[in-house]
Amino acid sequence: MSHADEHVGTRRDFLYYATAGAGTVAAGAAAWTLVNQMNPSADVQALASIQVDVSGVAEGTQLTVKWLGKPVFIRRRTPAEIEAGRAVDLNDLIDQNAENANKPGEPATDQNRTLDEAGEWLVQIGVCTHLGCVPIGDGAGDFGGWFCPCHGSHYDTAGRIRRGPAPQNLHIPVAEFISDTTIQLG
Ligand code: FES
Repeated sequence: MSHADEHVGTRRDFLYYATAGAGTVAAGAAAWTLVNQMNPSADVQALASIQVDVSGVAEGTQLTVKWLGKPVFIRRRTPAEIEAGRAVDLNDLIDQNAENANKPGEPATDQNRTLDEAGEWLVQIGVCTHLGCVPIGDGAGDFGGWFCPCHGSHYDTAGRIRRGPAPQNLHIPVAEFISDTTIQLG
């Protein structure tokens, strides 16, 4: 193969790749995840990170993405949900640890559970801390947050366990806003 042929092949591959990448973003405008595979320094650890566009997530709704084989709930809370979460007395909590990988060992205040200071964004691993079922969201359960139907665990609007057999609050993964509308997990 001549140098010219190699060049053509490389260019074609690149164009195909770029087109496929653009398609991924466009097709999933409402809810997409993009593995960070274009980063030239991508290694196994970097592949454990995904970036999620949350620009289409309306207040009072939840986007669920799959990350490292688990569902992750990204909820944009309403003012009422924030207020309810902040009104809770810590002494009423079953698990007083925030269970937040971004704030290890911190108390389970509503503020220590959310991604932003205003308390609008709550990102959690969507796995019940009892035996691993996926809880139902959208205000389910007796505390307006999530309800696990497997054995009846009720989580509040901050994802904290309030009643039932689950021993811990829903876990919060390493996460951060990397732009106004993009959350990076991992
Ligand atoms: S797995 Fe959720 S209550 Fe048992």
